[in-house]
Amino acid sequence: MQLTSMAAKTQHHRCFFFFSTVLLLSGRLQAQNLQTYIVQLHPLGMATPFYSSKLQWHLSLLQQFLVSPKSDPSSRLLYSFHSAIEGFAALLSQDELRSMQKHRDVIAIRPDNKLQLHTTYSYKFLGLNPTGQGGWYKSGFGRGSIIGVLDTGVWPESPSFDDRSMPPVPRKWRGICQQGQNFNSSNCNRKLIGARFFTKGHNLAALSSAHNAVAEYASPRDSQGHGTHTSSTAAGAAVPMASVLGSGAGVARGMAPGARIAIYKVCWINGCYSSDILAAMDAAIRDGVDVLSLSLGGFPVPLYEDNIAIGSFRAMEKGISVICSAGNNGPIENSVSNDAPWIATVGASTLDRRFPAVVRLANGKLLYGESLYPGNRVPAAQRELELVYVTGGESASEFCLRGSLPKAKVRGKMVVCDRGINGRAEKGQAVKEAGGAAMVLANTALNLGEDSVDAHVLPATLIGFDESVELKGYMNSTTRPRAKIIFGGTVIGRSRAPAVAQFSSRGPSFINPSIIKPDVIAPGVNIIAAWPQNLGPTGLPEDSRRVNFTVLSGTSMACPHVSGIAALLHSAYRTWTPAMIKSAIITTADFTDHLGKRILDGDKPAGVFAMGAGHVKPERAMNPGLAYDIRPEEYVAYLCTMGYTRAEIFTITHRNTSCRQIKRFSLNYPSISVTFRRGVAERMVERRLTNVGSPNSIYSVEVVAPEGVEVRVTPRRLVFKRVNQSLSYRVWFVSKKSRGMENLSMAEGQLTWKHSQNRFYRVRSPIAVTWRSNPRN
Ligand SMILES: *[C@@H]1O[C@H](CO)[C@@H](O)[C@H](O)[C@H]1NC(C)=O
Ligand SMILES: *[C@@H]1O[C@H](CO)[C@@H](O)[C@H](O)[C@H]1NC(C)=O
Ligand SMILES: *[C@@H]1O[C@H](CO)[C@@H](O)[C@H](O)[C@H]1NC(C)=O
Ligand SMILES: *[C@@H]1O[C@H](CO)[C@@H](O)[C@H](O)[C@H]1NC(C)=O
Ligand SMILES: *[C@@H]1O[C@H](CO)[C@@H](O)[C@H](O)[C@H]1NC(C)=O
Ligand SMILES: *[C@@H]1O[C@H](CO)[C@@H](O)[C@H](O)[C@H]1NC(C)=O
Repeated sequence: MQLTSMAAKTQHHRCFFFFSTVLLLSGRLQAQNLQTYIVQLHPLGMATPFYSSKLQWHLSLLQQFLVSPKSDPSSRLLYSFHSAIEGFAALLSQDELRSMQKHRDVIAIRPDNKLQLHTTYSYKFLGLNPTGQGGWYKSGFGRGSIIGVLDTGVWPESPSFDDRSMPPVPRKWRGICQQGQNFNSSNCNRKLIGARFFTKGHNLAALSSAHNAVAEYASPRDSQGHGTHTSSTAAGAAVPMASVLGSGAGVARGMAPGARIAIYKVCWINGCYSSDILAAMDAAIRDGVDVLSLSLGGFPVPLYEDNIAIGSFRAMEKGISVICSAGNNGPIENSVSNDAPWIATVGASTLDRRFPAVVRLANGKLLYGESLYPGNRVPAAQRELELVYVTGGESASEFCLRGSLPKAKVRGKMVVCDRGINGRAEKGQAVKEAGGAAMVLANTALNLGEDSVDAHVLPATLIGFDESVELKGYMNSTTRPRAKIIFGGTVIGRSRAPAVAQFSSRGPSFINPSIIKPDVIAPGVNIIAAWPQNLGPTGLPEDSRRVNFTVLSGTSMACPHVSGIAALLHSAYRTWTPAMIKSAIITTADFTDHLGKRILDGDKPAGVFAMGAGHVKPERAMNPGLAYDIRPEEYVAYLCTMGYTRAEIFTITHRNTSCRQIKRFSLNYPSISVTFRRGVAERMVERRLTNVGSPNSIYSVEVVAPEGVEVRVTPRRLVFKRVNQSLSYRVWFVSKKSRGMENLSMAEGQLTWKHSQNRFYRVRSPIAVTWRSNPRN
């Protein structure tokens, strides 16, 4: 993406200077075949008081291994870490890497890797009215909490970061407002209290792989829009009459409008690099954030190689809640990322808000579609036009790639474009450039009914897969197919919602299948939030319209909703651990939709590996009654049960424990997942509940047993005398598959503790039971 404003052009020079120093380095880097590695050291490695600082220790250790002894180690050091891990990121050759691995203080070395933002393919579009959820938004909610957002930066002038109603910055805050291109300390305020940027990992990797330097602010300023959107979703101030291009209006505000935002820019035009992310987590932990919000991720890897998981463990120990997006690789199974048990993993759901833009075929048939194009104000958009779908050839013109559409064929027509390959809004730009008058975006079998809307640059609508089959059938059946688009504005409350978003990544976790992931789902389709004021609502360079808000879709948008809820809980209960906060969010989530029926996933009821415990219910999470707490050392025992080695566990937890002492262990997780391996017909899990509601509370258990399983709970009643009191219970699962159930490999149920008097307190855990025939996993 390029910057489009005049201001951006004048910035270009400084940008060039910024990258030119990196270019010099990149030349050297290629000559010596250097690569970025993250070197993790033993936290007690600096045993002698010989070094005056950790940084000096890191430099000295690095120096010992440089092949050319005259090299200055600081020219190789990207970052020195102390809080997220002990260690550093440095440029190393293969030889240097090999000898360094043998040093006694080195516990792990990992290559830097690239992660992605979790928006759906196109994050170029527009929006109208906000995700209002009713009366629980009290001003001041979230006050005192600080949410650290690792993302593409922030557009500080957005009205969502107005600080007029905010009290002074909390005294515990130690962060900074880092100066950079078009950004200085005057851009921070009492709402946006911190901003930093981390670019070294990205620039080295991007330049050594021959990408060109891109005009992008070398500062915390957001040139892509994603970070402005996610941070305002988490904790944006209330903005009345928020609208996009006049389409719809309402009050836009974040989940925790009283909370503060600190932005850590780690994602750049070529992606988000682990070394930059780890450096940001390192800083955020020291700065004093309460919540870390990460709407990004990569492919699932073992936890001891997962920098986000490792950095999050340190954060969790310091009382910081880490909330991450689950990824957009659904509906494929096992696609969930950010699956560590100390992270809250968030999938995406739909809202009950629709933007109908129906295709009316000349034969009278109506095909339902959705669009944010303000067509009601453009009568010409509603004319009947000739339909055209250009297929064949090598240019993949059915996808409407830029330059692929023959002008002679599409001029003045309504062009049908298939989803895929390029961004949705970009297809509209391609049609416009070729002289097309309107566009129908057609979902494929991959997107089915997914309805992520865009603020297209020309009249356009998005139709589902069934509708697209019908449309193409109609086009085949006649020589001059014609249609028009009827734009219907915004409709709220008529559709079944929430439902699981088609793209939301699914469990069970590939790496970590013994825990239900994602944990919960939250709104992630067509979310309206703040947008940089120098970008058009589609984010396309050609889009000269200007907006303060736009609409995006992805688990990226779901994550900050939960980050905001975690901030509310941090404010309300300063002594709660991140595990208790997550427990409150999970045990109060709802598996039914507005109609009181089970949440849908496509046209089927959603399973726990699509929605976790269900859809978040902030007002209930604020008062959960009971909580499942987990002490940091309990995760060590859990990692033992996963078969990790002592060294691997040490890398993650910095705890040196022998797994031999651990015979059987149940992690006190708020959801329950059991696996029957071949020959095992009985499993027992243990849980411990802490009373965070009222004294003298009696709870009794209610179980919905999974098919083919008998479930017994003891005790069936828990009598809490005091607040903070903890009581344990056990659950036995006995596999009782009857005839005809031989092929049953997975079943679901739930276990709920209900308060004897207060109906508000219902503490629900989803249950997943899996039968594995392969004894090895
Ligand atoms: C910071 O930026 C503002 C607005 O761009 C400018 O007016 C101010 O002089 C800058 N301050 C410093 C210290 O550079
Ligand atoms: C339309 O016709 C083409 C060629 O006859 C055929 O390949 C295609 O499957 C048809 N499409 C539909 C949706 O009927
Ligand atoms: C965006 O917000 C600013 C500040 O509140 C306001 O001056 C401007 O008119 C808004 N722009 C649009 C397009 O609404
Ligand atoms: C862990 O403890 C064992 C035995 O006490 C010791 O040999 C080993 O070096 C320790 N490992 C680490 C990483 O501290
Ligand atoms: C519960 O425990 C927390 C943390 O130990 C403490 O701050 C709080 O006062 C306790 N609450 C009650 C009612 O005992
Ligand atoms: C179980 O699966 C096998 C092979 O897929 C199939 O032949 C059999 O009919 C199935 N049994 C039942 C009860 O569905």
